[in-house]
Amino acid sequence: MIEISSNDRAFVLTGAGVSAESGIPTFRGVGGLWRNYRIEEVACPRAWQRDPSLVWEFYSMRRRAASKAKPNAAHFVLARLEKALGERFLLCTQNVDNLHEQAGSNRLVHMHGELFKSRCDSCSRMPFPDSKTYEPPDDMPRCECGGRIRPHICWFGEVPFEMDRIFAEIARCAVFLVIGTSGVVEPAASFVQLASGHARTIYVGPEDPWNARAFSECYSGKAGEILPGLIKVDGKAL
Ligand code: OAD
Repeated sequence: MIEISSNDRAFVLTGAGVSAESGIPTFRGVGGLWRNYRIEEVACPRAWQRDPSLVWEFYSMRRRAASKAKPNAAHFVLARLEKALGERFLLCTQNVDNLHEQAGSNRLVHMHGELFKSRCDSCSRMPFPDSKTYEPPDDMPRCECGGRIRPHICWFGEVPFEMDRIFAEIARCAVFLVIGTSGVVEPAASFVQLASGHARTIYVGPEDPWNARAFSECYSGKAGEILPGLIKVDGKAL
């Protein structure tokens, strides 16, 4: 049982596993390949330079899959945890879907970007909401400045978003809870080391992540199945 006091500060990190029960495939493990490409080969600036239509084909496929998905019990528990802790709570997700928002989360950082936003790869135009699909034979989308419109995603080799806010919240949390991530992609995989000196470090997922040894507690199971009964705030189930 994860007992949390409403005076505690909690930092929660989620990965693809939290959306798996909503029907969005995880990256690694079974079904982790797309048309024989590893994610690292399509989600990188080099792929964008070489073949932007291949990159848009990949993200169009992901937009289609994510637009049908609905939040599961794990997303709803985290929205209730936010309600219970208020400004002492931050949810940092590596996921680019919007299922946490759909479940009611507001204090949320998308460190790897957002699937339903796009931006220009040349000018400083702000990222904008975009749920369209761009696939051959359609033309690739262009900005008014002539630059290419790209997905608002942090690709391999790029710096994740809002790192200052993330580091500040990890530094002062008492509970550091990680759900459904394999613990191989940096910098998120190393966050647990930053928390372990001062916070309880807890992992929830069906299998041990690569960095399992860094956690003080691990709970084994699917997030949507076990999370609802696992967290208590001030002795009350969420
Ligand atoms: P992975 O696909 O690497 O790992 C998913 C994890 O979820 C695995 O450890 C599974 O055991 C776990 N899992 C599966 N089903 C689960 C369930 N029902 N409940 C809880 N956990 C479950 O995904 P991430 O670690 O999120 O980045 O991947 C990190 C980053 O790599 C992604 O954000 C993405 C990818 O490349 C970018 O696109 C920039």
